Amino acid sequence: MEKPKVSVREASASDASRYAEAVAQLIRESAEHHNIHPREVEDIRRWMTEGVAVIALDEEEVVVGFCYYHLWSDRMVTHSALVVRPDVRRRGIGRQMKDVLHGMVERDVPGAVEISRTTCPVVVHMNERIGLEQCPLDQLTSDPAFWRECEHGCKDFQRVNAPGSALGQSNPIGTRCCCTGLIRRC
Ligand SMILES: CC(C)(COP(=O)(O)OP(=O)(O)OC[C@H]1O[C@@H](n2cnc3c(N)ncnc32)[C@H](O)[C@@H]1OP(=O)(O)O)[C@@H](O)C(=O)NCCC(=O)NCCS
Repeated sequence: MEKPKVSVREASASDASRYAEAVAQLIRESAEHHNIHPREVEDIRRWMTEGVAVIALDEEEVVVGFCYYHLWSDRMVTHSALVVRPDVRRRGIGRQMKDVLHGMVERDVPGAVEISRTTCPVVVHMNERIGLEQCPLDQLTSDPAFWRECEHGCKDFQRVNAPGSALGQSNPIGTRCCCTGLIRRC
């Protein structure tokens, strides 16, 4: 069977009302199997409207992928909520979305440092391919909001932070995190 053609592009304000719910559902379904946390429809609408999101659509204009960039303090930026619908994975859509997002970061936030925190080996691989290097977690942003996300967003948080746990590394707000940290060194 022929595979559907997929287009990857920057999301716009007019996409917000049309696609935000489908994106939220795609992320929610992925969260059942992967370490990605569900996002609110309102937030997804805002990211599209603010011009910080990338969307992938198939020929019938059905959402098959999404990601956005988030600017943290210390002028550090993450590629966040990266997701591709399972039936079209491993066709380069995730890579294309990250390339578009990287271009947007360079255009919109010149001089920002791209960082990543992930438990997903595929994302580590993707980030290394675009030039990020593995680093200790304390080299990432010290923004408390970034580290507080772990508590409500990471499936491993309770286990890694159980009393006496030596799993993972301590992060700048003193909780433990089992992610691999990556940074693009200037
Ligand atoms: C991570 C994800 C977005 C990747 O999307 P994708 O469209 O399948 O990725 P691509 O096809 O662009 O592949 C990118 C690279 O990863 C490799 N890759 C992708 N999936 C892989 C897998 N399951 N096993 C091994 N390698 C894999 C590809 O071979 C490719 O490598 P290359 O650049 O050396 O050729 C997708 O797997 C996904 O949605 N996962 C669930 C949500 C998730 O975990 N998000 C990350 C949260 S941190």
